[in-house]
Amino acid sequence: MGKKVSQHVAWVGKADWQLTTFHGDELSTHRGSSYNSYLVRDKKTALIDTVWHPFDKEFVSRLKDEINLNDIDFIIMNHNEIDHSGALPELMRAIPDTPIYCTVQGEKIMRGHYHRDWNFVNVHTGDTLPLGDTTLTFFEAPMLHWPDTMFTHLSGDNVLFSNDGFGQHLASESLFDDTIDEDIILAEAEKYYANILAPFNPMVKRKAAELLGMGLPIDIIAPSHGVIWRRHPEKIIEKYVQWCDSYAENQITIVYDTMWNSTRRMAECIAEGISEADPGVRVKLFNAAKHDKNDILTELFHSKAMLMGCPTINTGISYAMAGLLEMLHGLKLQGKKSATFGSYGWASTGVKVIQKHLEDAGIPVILPALNVNWVPDESAIALCRQYGRDFVEALKK
Ligand code: FEO
Repeated sequence: MGKKVSQHVAWVGKADWQLTTFHGDELSTHRGSSYNSYLVRDKKTALIDTVWHPFDKEFVSRLKDEINLNDIDFIIMNHNEIDHSGALPELMRAIPDTPIYCTVQGEKIMRGHYHRDWNFVNVHTGDTLPLGDTTLTFFEAPMLHWPDTMFTHLSGDNVLFSNDGFGQHLASESLFDDTIDEDIILAEAEKYYANILAPFNPMVKRKAAELLGMGLPIDIIAPSHGVIWRRHPEKIIEKYVQWCDSYAENQITIVYDTMWNSTRRMAECIAEGISEADPGVRVKLFNAAKHDKNDILTELFHSKAMLMGCPTINTGISYAMAGLLEMLHGLKLQGKKSATFGSYGWASTGVKVIQKHLEDAGIPVILPALNVNWVPDESAIALCRQYGRDFVEALKK
């Protein structure tokens, strides 16, 4: 079962190849995921995190193939969302007195989830747990992305167990970053960051500086999802430093919904106007109802600006656009600019609804909305192209 990670560390997690959504249906996982659990064996043995509840029996059974469960001296719970703590009840049935090292918030969450009086040991930043030749050091990282989150560092092997941090939803058998196309790993890592960690950008920024300031040697970053970073662990740290700081590439993303293709036609003509005014900018279009919502949000995450369009429907906007705007609001993206557009029949109120959502999300709307009545004719198409050119100009101000 176990796969060697370093001299003292074995991976004892679960690859979940068939996972298509995570957090209920909130997050798409096109490449599956994994729940990484690690066994650290020195003079003492520590188990770091477990796996999601549906795999609890399989996890414990396979763990028994790897080690006599009674030889586990400590359980370290870096974060207690159910994808990592879900197998604890099954494990604790076998070794009920084993101490569980976690933050104060971690204990509260485990008590809230499982209602058991396990042997909790609360730890704080800088606390250590000697295992023999190696030592575990704990580092609290609240709100990355839950209040209980912490990282754990293993000296000697220089492994940082970062739980959700630096993770990706990506199933693999080969486990390491040097065995999979780097572009795929980084794309999944960015999607993970954009959809899960972006709301906590200020904390990421602060904690990254604090962690680097501690000067802990890091040769391997072992997250709780996806591949383990051993080739260039510094690369994903550099990415996080970029992503947490109003990240933007030279991209403008247009997201629209459409009923009879009028708003789609508007979107395409606005895109033409943008490209005409700024041939160097990357322009992408997405239909909010047809494209994956989390992939769209990832595109918005790395865009410098966005245009959101929807026809007026019952004086409001479509289900898909409303859902996307709600998710966008939660991500608290910074440094973006926006504009709105849409077709209408007898009430041009849809764009006002979008505008309010964008402003509430902290994304400034830099141009008056563009409305087109019914189906765009040649003059409306010309207006849309001009709108794209105007948007490029407005971005320069
Ligand atoms: Fe992977 Fe926040 O759990």
